Amino acid sequence: MIRKVGVIGCGLMGGGIAQTCAQSGYETIVREVNQEFLDRGMARIHSAWEMMTNKGKLTQGQLEENRSRLHGTLNLEDFADCDIVIEAVLENMEEKLRIFPALDRIVKPGALLLSNTSSLSVTQMGAVTKRPDKVCGLHFFNPAPVMKLVEIVRTISTSDETISTVREFALSLGKTPVLAKDTAGFIVNFLLIPYLIAAIRMLENGMATKEDIDTAMKLGCGYPMGPFTLLDYVGLDTTLWAAEAIYEEYKDPLYAPPPLLRRMVTSGMYGKKSGKGFYDYTKSL
Ligand code: CAA
Repeated sequence: MIRKVGVIGCGLMGGGIAQTCAQSGYETIVREVNQEFLDRGMARIHSAWEMMTNKGKLTQGQLEENRSRLHGTLNLEDFADCDIVIEAVLENMEEKLRIFPALDRIVKPGALLLSNTSSLSVTQMGAVTKRPDKVCGLHFFNPAPVMKLVEIVRTISTSDETISTVREFALSLGKTPVLAKDTAGFIVNFLLIPYLIAAIRMLENGMATKEDIDTAMKLGCGYPMGPFTLLDYVGLDTTLWAAEAIYEEYKDPLYAPPPLLRRMVTSGMYGKKSGKGFYDYTKSL
């Protein structure tokens, strides 16, 4: 039975995942690398709950319960009694390969270790633990509390029992799970990344303005956001890492990151979270 959930990372995704778990009734602990990042992540979750309370989506009592279920920490040792741990740190394999063996040592036997990676190999993460049968991907979409989909990513070592527990867990969070094999990009990014890259190439080639491309895809296809608004929303850095990971696996030019994307990331233009991407958000920060 899942009672306590641990989340590693309280950034955009980790924070959204921790919020989702706590508001779904789970005792939740979230870890960041320093107090400043933790405070910022926790503040974002608390203000989302306040916004939901103001909109009448949470009662004052539910707000208090959510708050009491969510705990922040800087210490991985506090994850020892978690039943499920979801890793949501930066998309950097070296970092993930440090975290998984550490969690494996700390977290009780029988607990499941999941990764929110969007395109890195979950098999590799499982392979550095002594419980690869209890390791799989659980990929959320931004904003995690709102988006209904999760991808459950199965490696060749993941057991049927793990998949079935994670499926039940995803349903208990109000999500619709789909099952994907551990291949770069899984389902969504395998299709989404070439679309976003094609939009950047159109802009590089001067085929249309970013505003017109966004309007075209919103109104012409009924997408909630055009590709440049979505790129800024997801994060240009995250998009670049995902494109690189899929390109690395298949060497298909469809996934080769366009020069403009690389230069924007090099310049710190990560999108909404840094204040500047294809659009300027500095006034709304
Ligand atoms: N917690 C709780 N509720 C939240 C929330 C949060 N953190 N953030 C937003 N909401 C709620 C809002 O309160 C609002 O609720 P009501 O409709 O009841 O008022 C609702 O979500 C919609 O939000 P907004 O009204 O602010 O804005 P919107 O209607 O324009 O929708 C959006 C925003 C849901 C983000 C929508 O534009 C959308 O679906 N965009 C596409 C997002 C997308 O494609 N995400 C996937 C990206 S790919 C990815 O993440 C994977 C990867 O690996 C790269």
